[in-house]
Amino acid sequence: MAAKARIAVLGAGLMGHGIAQVFAHAGHGVRIYDTAAASLDQVRTRIAANLRDLGDDETAAERVHPCADLADTVRDADFVVEAVSEDLAVKRKLFAEAESLVRADTILASNTSVIPITSIMQDLRGRERALGTHWWNPPFLVPLVEVIGTQWTSPTAIAWTMELHAAAGKKPAHVKKDVAGFIGNRLQHALWREAIALVEQGICDAETVDTVIKAAFGRRLAVLGPLENADLVGTDLTLAIHKTVLPAIDSRPAPSPYLEGLVADGKLGFKSGEGFRKWSPQAQAALRAKVVQHLKKARASDA
Ligand SMILES: NC(=O)c1ccc[n+]([C@@H]2O[C@H](COP(=O)([O-])OP(=O)(O)OC[C@H]3O[C@@H](n4cnc5c(N)ncnc54)[C@H](O)[C@@H]3O)[C@@H](O)[C@H]2O)c1
Repeated sequence: MAAKARIAVLGAGLMGHGIAQVFAHAGHGVRIYDTAAASLDQVRTRIAANLRDLGDDETAAERVHPCADLADTVRDADFVVEAVSEDLAVKRKLFAEAESLVRADTILASNTSVIPITSIMQDLRGRERALGTHWWNPPFLVPLVEVIGTQWTSPTAIAWTMELHAAAGKKPAHVKKDVAGFIGNRLQHALWREAIALVEQGICDAETVDTVIKAAFGRRLAVLGPLENADLVGTDLTLAIHKTVLPAIDSRPAPSPYLEGLVADGKLGFKSGEGFRKWSPQAQAALRAKVVQHLKKARASDA
């Protein structure tokens, strides 16, 4: 991998500006493209403010070049990462256009949350250099980037991308099959399904579910993954627990009717003031601030 790669970021929204920030902070030159002038206009200021808040070198924002023209953005790029709206048709169109403008060896990556990489990239001519890089919000505070290969992605493209992200201070994880939810969201939503089922079945209320997680295994999760934990307690004990507990756990292959009911009733969470619980504007702001503080502390202790 070139020590200084030329990065192109497509989409200057919540994720795109944060991804651009990480690469610029790592010393790479970044061009960033968006169809909305407002997103482009504020991208450098937004990045500089984040860097300042984190105590990082603010001048890194000067390595980010907003571009209103796609060709100018991607022409010289070694690596193109797309973070535009979560819309398959929009992403496919953008990659078709970008592919016609880049070198044959430029790597093309999508930061989609849930759309299979295969369906985004299937019509490209050079599918061996196309893959997924799934970041977590905020990109400059959450270390993981899942690097997803399709059946066509070359091992060289995966290795180069893993190295690029590791060198930029991220924790890349290789997802060997392009499955829905990749790894992180499969695990996260397996937990959310059971959390909802516990409330739906009247076993406890929503606040209690969150308390149990945060005050128990949530405390350990950042340093003790479930499979490390299974080895720690013993695979034999894990097997015994599963024989008793798994038949009782929710395994419905569809969203819970309880969740569907909340949405139907307009209980959409923060955006409507009530979801599983009620949320005043003050409570929302306090929780958001608490999460960011926690992530900043974790980043500082990683350093
Ligand atoms: N928000 C998250 O927590 C999160 C986490 C991981 C992945 N993602 C994924 O990242 C992608 C971006 O999400 P976001 O939260 O940053 O959205 P966002 O709405 O904040 O930003 C999207 C940006 O894309 C721009 N855009 C739309 N169509 C475009 C086009 N054709 N060409 C250029 N720019 C275009 C918009 O103007 C906007 O600035 C989505 O695929 C999303 O699913 C989001």
